[in-house]
Amino acid sequence: MTANSQGNKSSHSEIKYRRDYKSPAFFLLESKIYLKLSEQKTTVISSLNFKRNLDSEELIEQPRQLILNGVKLKLLDISLDGVSMPRSSYQFSEEYLLIQDLPDQFTLEITTEINPQANTSLQGLYKSGDKYCTQCEAEGFRNITYFPDRPDVMTIFTTKVEADKTKYPFLLSNGNLIDSGDLENGKHFATWHDPFPKPSYLFALVAGNFDLLEDTFITMSGREVALKIYVDSGKLNQCHHAMESLKKAMTWDEEVYGLEYDLDIYMIVAVSDFNMGAMENKGLNVFNTCFVLANNKTATDADFEDVESVIAHEYFHNWTGNRVTCRDWFQLTLKEGLTVFRDQEFSSDMNSRAVKRLKDVLAIKNGQFAEDAGPMSHPIRPDSYVEMNNFYTQTVYSKGAEVIRMIETIVCNSGFKKGMKLYFERHDGQAVTCEDFICAMEDANNVDLSLFRNWYRQAGTPELDVNAHWDSSKGKYTLTITQYCKPTPGQPHKEPFLIPLRLALFSKAGEMQNLDIANSDIKCKIVDNGAFSGKEAVIEITEHHQTIVFSGLNEKPIPSLLRGFSAPIKLHFGFSDQELALLLAFDNDSYSSWEAGQMLMTKLIVNLTGDLLEDKPLSFPIELEETFNNILEVKDADPNLLAMNLSTPSLDFLLEQFQEVPWNELVNAYNYFNRTLAIKCHGNLLSTYDRAASMADSDRENASGWRKLQNACLSLLGKAEETEGISLAIKQFKQAKEMTNSLASLKVVAHSQQADKTKWLDTFYQRWQDEELVLDKWFSVQATNPERDVINEIYQLLEHADFQISNPNKVRALITAFAKGNLENFHRLDGVGYKLVADVIIKLNKINPQIAARLTSSFNSWRKFDNSRKELMKHQLKRIVELENVSADVYEIASKALAYN
Ligand code: TRP
Ligand code: ZN
Repeated sequence: MTANSQGNKSSHSEIKYRRDYKSPAFFLLESKIYLKLSEQKTTVISSLNFKRNLDSEELIEQPRQLILNGVKLKLLDISLDGVSMPRSSYQFSEEYLLIQDLPDQFTLEITTEINPQANTSLQGLYKSGDKYCTQCEAEGFRNITYFPDRPDVMTIFTTKVEADKTKYPFLLSNGNLIDSGDLENGKHFATWHDPFPKPSYLFALVAGNFDLLEDTFITMSGREVALKIYVDSGKLNQCHHAMESLKKAMTWDEEVYGLEYDLDIYMIVAVSDFNMGAMENKGLNVFNTCFVLANNKTATDADFEDVESVIAHEYFHNWTGNRVTCRDWFQLTLKEGLTVFRDQEFSSDMNSRAVKRLKDVLAIKNGQFAEDAGPMSHPIRPDSYVEMNNFYTQTVYSKGAEVIRMIETIVCNSGFKKGMKLYFERHDGQAVTCEDFICAMEDANNVDLSLFRNWYRQAGTPELDVNAHWDSSKGKYTLTITQYCKPTPGQPHKEPFLIPLRLALFSKAGEMQNLDIANSDIKCKIVDNGAFSGKEAVIEITEHHQTIVFSGLNEKPIPSLLRGFSAPIKLHFGFSDQELALLLAFDNDSYSSWEAGQMLMTKLIVNLTGDLLEDKPLSFPIELEETFNNILEVKDADPNLLAMNLSTPSLDFLLEQFQEVPWNELVNAYNYFNRTLAIKCHGNLLSTYDRAASMADSDRENASGWRKLQNACLSLLGKAEETEGISLAIKQFKQAKEMTNSLASLKVVAHSQQADKTKWLDTFYQRWQDEELVLDKWFSVQATNPERDVINEIYQLLEHADFQISNPNKVRALITAFAKGNLENFHRLDGVGYKLVADVIIKLNKINPQIAARLTSSFNSWRKFDNSRKELMKHQLKRIVELENVSADVYEIASKALAYN
C-alpha cells in the first residue's frame, strides 16, 4: 500500500490493469450498516463479518492482511470481535485502511464520520435539495465507510437509518423493511434487510420528504410486488408514465426471458442532482428526475421514450447486473452492453422497431465511432483505466450492446435465449466475467466464438472495403471484401474481426433477387422463412480478404449491404448516386434505405466542401432535388421514417469523414446544403408540414410520429431563410398544446435572425419558470443558437438565478449542449468557445470531477483541426492538466487527449 500524501497528482497516474486481477483475501458474510444522518456530521457504524478466502490470489505472501477502501473519512473507532483496537494495530492513508494478522473469521466494527452536506461530487452519500441520497457505482461506497469496495465481494446488507422525523419522514434502503420506530429528540429510524448478497456498488440509502405514487404488480408466479415512485412534492401528475413503463418492463422480462422480480417491493426515487441517468441499486433505484418525470405539458415525445427505456434499463439490471454481477470493473460491458441490448429490444417491442434501430445506429455513428477514433479509444472490455468513472462510455454501453446483438445474429434469437438461460443457471448469485458470458453462449449453442472474442479485446471501428464485379455472360456477381481497423492507442496492429454482414441484392426495378452463393469457403446463412426467404443472407466475414460469388442473376444487381446495421463497422462501397437514390426509394430494410439517403447527402456535403476549398461556385444537383422531392411525395410513408430520412447528417458525423477537417469550408458547405435543400423542396415541405400537423391531431395513435415529421419539415423550412418558415414556427409556438411542438418551434425561432426572438424565449421562460426540467430545455435552446452572440449570452446565463453549476443537468443543458451541439461556435477561430468550456471545466474540477471530466472530452477531436484551432484547444487542455488540484477524472481525459497522435 502506498500512502499518498502529496495530493492528487501522483495518484493520477496510478493505472489499474485488467491482467492484475486477484481474488480477494477475505469474503464478507454479512454487513450491518448503521447511519445516523446529520447534515455535516453523519456517523456510520459498520459491523462487518469477514471470512478468509482460502483460494485467494490476493497477497499470497500476506494472506492475513485486510485492505479496506475508504476516501475522505474521519475514522473514529475500530474494534475487532468486540475489542477496541489500539492505534498501532492498523494503518491508514487517504484511501485505505490496512489491518494485519487477522484470524480466519472475525467481525470488525468501524465507526466513521462523513459530511454529506459538503459532498458536491454526487458520489457516496450526498444531499440533493433537502433529501439525502447515495450513488455508489462505481467506487462511491468507499466515501461512506471503510469497506472492500470491489464488485466481487458480495454480502448481505442490513441497513439501519436514523434521522430527524419531520425533515426526513421517509427512510429507505435496499430490500425489505424489517423494523422502524420513533426515537428521542424528534428522530426516527428504519431498518432494511436485503436477503440477496450484493456488492457495495448496489447499496442505496434515501431519506427525505416525498410524494408517493403506489401501484402493485403480480408476478408470473403470482407474487404481489409493491411498486413505489418517490418524487418531489407536487410532481405526482408527472409520474404515471414512469409507473406504466415499469409494469411493461416487468411483464416483458417475464414473457421474453422468463425472468421474474425477486423482492416484495420495488422503489424508484427521483432526485434533481445526479451524475448520470439512473442507478439500479437493488430494490431501490435512484433516478435523475429527467428520466422519471413526464407529462405531455412538460415533456417531449422523445422524453417519453427516454423515460420508458431508462426505467426498463434499470429494471432489467435486476437480473443482468444484480443477480449476476461483474467480477471487476473491466467487465462493465457484461452488465451494461447486455442491459442496453435488453432495453433496446424492449423499446423495439413497445414502439416501432425500425425507428428504434435507426436511433441506436445514429448514436453509434455520431458518437461511438468518434470515441473509437480518438484518444479515449478502448475495447468494450478495457485493459486499463485510471478513473473507472471515465469508462462509462458509449463504447462500453452502445458498442457493447451491438456486440451482444451480433452474438444474437450469429446464434439466432432462439439460440441467444438458450444461452441466456444457461448463463443464469450457471452464474446466478455470482460476480463473473465477459468470458463467462461468451462461454454460456458457446455451450448452449455448440458454437465456437473464438474469433468473435476479438470484439472484446480490440478497440477501434473495423472497416470493410467492398468491391463488385459483374460478369454478364455468366450471370455472376462477385463481391471482394477487405477488412481493416486503424491503430488505436496501445494497439497498432489488429487481428480480423468476425463480422456478420447481412445483405440482399436488388434489381433496378426494386425486386429482391434469389441468393445463390456459389463459393463454399464462406460461412453463410440464407434466411429461410418470412418475406425475405431465400433473398437475404448473413455472411460471416472472418479474414482480411474474402470473396463472395452470387450466380444465376439476370442483371447487374444493386447490393443492399450491412442490412439492419448488422455490425458496428464502417462499410465502403462505390455506389453511384443513382444507385443510392434507388436504394433510398425501394430498399425494404429501413436502415439500408435510410443509410443510402445519408450517404447521398454526405457525399454531396463532402464534395461541396472540396469545391469551396478550390474556390469553385457551389451548386445543388437537380437529381438530388428530385430524389428528396420524390420521397416527400410518397403519401403512405411511415411519418417517423420519413422524418429520419429528412434529417441531414450531423456536423460531428461529417467531421469524422476527414483526416484533417477544413472546418470553415465544411460548415459553409453544410449550411449551404441545408438551406438549398429546404429551398428546393419548399413546396413539398410545406404541404407535408400541413398534412403531418393535421394527422397529429386526428391520428392519435401515431401522433408522435406525425409530430416528428411536422417538426422535421419545420426545422428545414426555418433554414430556408424565408420569413415564411419563421412565421410558421411562431404560429406553431402559439398554438402548441404539448411540449414537443412548443419546443421544436421555439428552437426554430430562437435560432433564426428574427429581431424579436427574445420575446418568445421570455414567454417560454415565464410559462415554465417553476419546472426545472423545462428550464433545462430553455437553457439548451439558447446554448445551441448558431449566432455569434451566443458566447456572451452563455456567460450571462451562467449567472442566471436558475442556473446552478453544482447541478449536472444544468451543466449539461447549457455547457455540454454548447460544446457538443453548437460546433460552429465551439470551434470559433477567436478561441472564445474553447475558453468558455475550459472555464467551466476548471470551476467544476473541484465541485464535481465526474462531470468536469465528461465535459473535458469535448476537446478529444482537437488533432483533426487546422493548426490555429489545434493550438487554441491544446492551450485550453494544458490550462486544465496544469491545474493545481486537477482531479484524477479530469487529468486522465485531458492528458490522454494531449498525448494522442
Ligand atoms: N449503472 C448505471 C446504469 O444504469 C450507471 C450509473 C449511474 C453510473 N450512476 C452512475 C455510473 C455514477 C458511474 C457513476 O447505467
Ligand atoms: Zn446500466
